[in-house]
Amino acid sequence: MTKIIAHRGSKGTHPENTLAAFKEAVLVGSDGIELDVQLSKDNQLMVIHDETIDRTTNGYGEVGSLTLTELKQYDAGSWFQKNPMIQEIPTLEEVVMLLKEENFQGLLNIEIKTDKIHYEGIEQLIVQLMKSQCWPFEYMYSSFYFKSLEKIWEIEQNQNIAAVFRLSEKEETRALQSKFIEGIHPKIDWVFDHLDDLADFPKAIRPWTVNEEDTMTHCFRHHLTAIHTDYPAKALQIRKLIQN
Ligand code: G3P
Ligand code: MG
Repeated sequence: MTKIIAHRGSKGTHPENTLAAFKEAVLVGSDGIELDVQLSKDNQLMVIHDETIDRTTNGYGEVGSLTLTELKQYDAGSWFQKNPMIQEIPTLEEVVMLLKEENFQGLLNIEIKTDKIHYEGIEQLIVQLMKSQCWPFEYMYSSFYFKSLEKIWEIEQNQNIAAVFRLSEKEETRALQSKFIEGIHPKIDWVFDHLDDLADFPKAIRPWTVNEEDTMTHCFRHHLTAIHTDYPAKALQIRKLIQN
């Protein structure tokens, strides 16, 4: 059965990458949760998609040039007009603690956001945090930046590692040739370009971002490993309909 991974939490209904979005993803019964990690000026693992806080908070500046205390002063929820609420930018530790409290038992996909800024040491810090406790959920690592995946593999061989990419054939070939890459997380367009190859594809396929009903249906009918969606509740309903 194709797993349903809530992209940046339940991004379509709650402000992305906030505790409220992750809580919602758990409440609706998502099989998985995806989040993005960047590094603050004082080496704290911050859960935020962009390299700056401009789009998703009421502040401005680069994540990497602000400290944890400075980042915590900004509101990361009120910008979301569909469902505004006051939220902080969470740390990775705060998210994993929330998932533990909420008794989440699915899959956490930790996307390391190093494709634009190569944060020194971020991979080590993430692995250190994740290995510091036994979490009641599965987790895996992913990134657009292949060097981050190689670094993760050097220090952690027990968790799945997936390559994120858009449509590039080069990225696909590299992922296919790399023994430590368990799966690919391509842009959904890749799926439509490879319909004939899906059944025999030798690695897990978890595309993003699958928000339309017909696209979801397509992915479920092709038995893809998982989808990343901004609307996990809707995806769960559609998957149920297909199964009945
Ligand atoms: O990890 C899948 C997906 O999140 C990659 O794209 O830009 O939403 O992080 P983005
Ligand atoms: Mg992401």
